[in-house]
Amino acid sequence: MSKVSQVDLGTPAVPGKESVNVVVDGMPVNVPAGTSVLRAAATAGVTIPRLCATDSLEPFGSCRLCLVEVDGRPGTPASCTTPCTPGMTVRTQTARLDRLRRGVMELYISDHPLDCLTCPANGDCELQDMAGVVGLRDVRYGMDGANHLDGATDDSNPYFSFDDSKCIACSRCVRACGEVQGTFALTISGRGFDSRVSAGAGESFMGSECVSCGACVQACPTSTLQEKTVIALGVPTRSVKTTCAYCGVGCSFVAELRGDQVVRMVPDKDGGANAGHSCVKGRFAWGYASHRDRQLEPMVRERITDPWRVVSWDEAIAHAADGLRRIQAEHGVGAIGGITSSRCTNEEVFVVQKMIRAAFGNNNVDTCARVCHSPTGYGLKQTFGTSAGTQDFESVAHADVVVVIGANPTDGHPVFASRLKRRLRQGAQLVVVDPRRIDLVRSPHVEAAEHLQLQPGTNVAIVNALAHVVVTEGLVDREFVAERCEVDSFAEWESFIALPENSPEATAEVTGVPADAVRRAARLYATAGNAAIYYGLGVTEHSQGSTMVMGMANLAMATGNIGRPGVGVNPLRGQNNVQGSCDMGSFPHELPGYRHVGDAGVRAVFDAVWGTTIDPEPGLRIPNMFDAAIAGRYLGMFIQGEDIAQSDPNVAHVKAALGSLELLVVQDLFLNETAKFAHVFLPGTSFLEKDGTFTNAERRINRVRPVMAAKSGKQEWQVACELATAMGYPMDYPSSSQIMDEIAATTPTFAGVSFDRLDAEGSVQWPCNDAAPHGTRIMHVDGFVRGKGHFVDTPFVPTDERTNRKFPLILTTGRILSQYNVGAQTRRTPNVQWHHEDVVEIHVHDAETRGIADGQPVTITSRVGETVLRARISDRVPQGVVYTTFHYPGSGANVVTTEYSDWATNCPEYKVTAVELAPTSRPPVTEAEMRAEHQPVAGRS
Ligand code: SF4
Ligand code: SF4
Ligand code: SF4
Ligand code: FES
Repeated sequence: MSKVSQVDLGTPAVPGKESVNVVVDGMPVNVPAGTSVLRAAATAGVTIPRLCATDSLEPFGSCRLCLVEVDGRPGTPASCTTPCTPGMTVRTQTARLDRLRRGVMELYISDHPLDCLTCPANGDCELQDMAGVVGLRDVRYGMDGANHLDGATDDSNPYFSFDDSKCIACSRCVRACGEVQGTFALTISGRGFDSRVSAGAGESFMGSECVSCGACVQACPTSTLQEKTVIALGVPTRSVKTTCAYCGVGCSFVAELRGDQVVRMVPDKDGGANAGHSCVKGRFAWGYASHRDRQLEPMVRERITDPWRVVSWDEAIAHAADGLRRIQAEHGVGAIGGITSSRCTNEEVFVVQKMIRAAFGNNNVDTCARVCHSPTGYGLKQTFGTSAGTQDFESVAHADVVVVIGANPTDGHPVFASRLKRRLRQGAQLVVVDPRRIDLVRSPHVEAAEHLQLQPGTNVAIVNALAHVVVTEGLVDREFVAERCEVDSFAEWESFIALPENSPEATAEVTGVPADAVRRAARLYATAGNAAIYYGLGVTEHSQGSTMVMGMANLAMATGNIGRPGVGVNPLRGQNNVQGSCDMGSFPHELPGYRHVGDAGVRAVFDAVWGTTIDPEPGLRIPNMFDAAIAGRYLGMFIQGEDIAQSDPNVAHVKAALGSLELLVVQDLFLNETAKFAHVFLPGTSFLEKDGTFTNAERRINRVRPVMAAKSGKQEWQVACELATAMGYPMDYPSSSQIMDEIAATTPTFAGVSFDRLDAEGSVQWPCNDAAPHGTRIMHVDGFVRGKGHFVDTPFVPTDERTNRKFPLILTTGRILSQYNVGAQTRRTPNVQWHHEDVVEIHVHDAETRGIADGQPVTITSRVGETVLRARISDRVPQGVVYTTFHYPGSGANVVTTEYSDWATNCPEYKVTAVELAPTSRPPVTEAEMRAEHQPVAGRS
């Protein structure tokens, strides 16, 4: 097993239909025109020694090890930088080449520590491999000349080390950081013999702009850049392909193990979403799976003030089932319900919603997507006919203009951000619509053409103004609209959007964005050729979240930017399986595949397979569950992998609701904030233990394969089956594969999906059925799912959450790269070294007028609550706007967020809260203080 265990053909594939025939060592080879000789030879199974080349990077031609002879050409060109031409005849093995290569290798080895046997990369080092390939037996030059053997080691990064003494200055790391990651944190400083790799301006890795993506570590052919886990544990001996469980990008990984211990996670080159790249979380932050805080045994207690009692699985499940049945007997069938998790697999989610609909006998099921992307589901279904993004990630490589709205991809969706930045470096233009100056606005080799720095809560006014310019300046794609969209709804929308109140000039006062900037951005988008919209929670988590999604869909349809590569309307989904949890029927009104529960035909399909009678009435949404709990009508709840006491808005209200329940069953990895209110705790499984599928933001269904056995002894879907069975509805599956078979049998868009297909094809994007047996990369190509595209009028309605003299600032929230969501996982990894507490960013003028100094604790007060955070004075936020993250429970950012929500879906308005800040001497609540609030576990020290 080695870093190069994934096949490496030396230089990247060359796209293109034309091919050329060449002869390598007497063998005919046919390759796409422009392919390097190195790659052509590798394709034919001929290994040419190389060090500076790898197929994830453009060829560089510096090491001179890959020399070949070409008939009719003088000299010995480097095969990595020599493109194949028709009829070329290449020799890779001659006495002259052997001699030259050995000479080159001798120079490298003469300046390299000869400690292979004790080197952590022994058996995992391309330099070692290549010395063997070229047949180097001895080195004529002594080690007493000038060398780099006393090079220092930089151990500052928690996950990898840099040992300068082993560096051969091949520049693969430098190029990986630029070409693949797009951060440009590394350079080769000095010239000739003095050439050395340097992070930033001669800083440590931690002190530089490095974002710890690990691309340089993966690219390094020696042990210079090496994972600390490999140094500690040794070189891996086996591997399992699986999928990252953090964000909605859904990166594929090869988990490399030694025995049953994970040594490292290597991004899978064949991964459809990530093509061999990753971010710090997926590659390095997986240690939480073995963290001592994992609660691995079931527990029960009568009251939430009692200590926990560890019990057997049987006792815990019987306790939960008895309690839920008792509540139903006393208070009615609808007095219980549950929440599915976007962290869990499709199979786990499917089984939980089935348990609720079939065993609980009601539709009181909702999911954490309620609080993030439910407006995406509503808005895209209304306009296009289906609740999903239109493109695959690769599509961005074909975009000429990209509009990023309410998203911060470099922090939230880093691997997509790297793809995007690559396209921007190639010349595509960028428009950023965001109240905050996110990194994309200006970063190495990237500068947005326009940054529309709008006031939080005015998205709809901006999208209307953009569309107004399109309509009134004659930029509508009339042909597309006539062919693909509804004539009537377009005509109505066109008249609405042309109203003077929607003009950039009229909306400038409320949005704060100069009209001419809006006009320039609209023209850019409409005349681009291919223009794509990517958006995030800055769009959805508003009182007009659904309106905004429809506004963007209107804009894309009016300009013909739908149905081909490089265009589309693309939600950047938050959690790893938020798409999947919605697909799997987690909403109270929808069965799997987004089919309304009131549709008798659809219910009949499930009734037949499940042997039950599904209630035709939609159940409670999460906010309704809370209200009903406080009103005493909703008393029992099953929560799968979601910490609603931290993640949902107006935490005081959430806690009041949880505290009103007679029985709360929590299934999770850790005793989280919600578990403080639980009566039954059922241990969950980490992604390294799960067996199933996740569906990412591109609708891509990826396999999640168990890297290790479930530490709790049970898969989560087994637990749901046992709970349903204990409640009187027998449910069982031989394996998770059969759950997917049931999904495919009942859900037309999944009809062609099976574990066998996923194993054979790597991944597929739904719809996957007879019409599209290999899945669907891009949607709405020949027509919209609903037939004709539907335009919806989108009048701007300001949120009821207004600033006033008492609460003059707007608080908006977001994420940072190193932490994930409520931080349950990332806080239990060395990622805390980048971010150990949430802070509130405030503009210098707002800070000065309040007497707030940088780093000082401040109270943040809203209409519903108060919390304390440390202030960071920042020019990223405009005056009047403050910004924070919500990764730490002690920060309680959601203590202050209100219950205002999207009119259509109840998605909370996290992004707009009127607040006031004031200096305080009170320090922020620490994580340790929050943990101390948990009741003890009896018998545990
Ligand atoms: S870890 Fe990533 S960002 Fe940091 S230097 Fe390496 S490639 Fe660049
Ligand atoms: S650190 Fe590794 S990849 Fe970078 S120049 Fe040195 S040997 Fe090459
Ligand atoms: S967190 Fe997201 S971008 Fe990072 S490795 Fe995981 S799936 Fe990929
Ligand atoms: S691999 Fe071709 S010059 Fe280094």
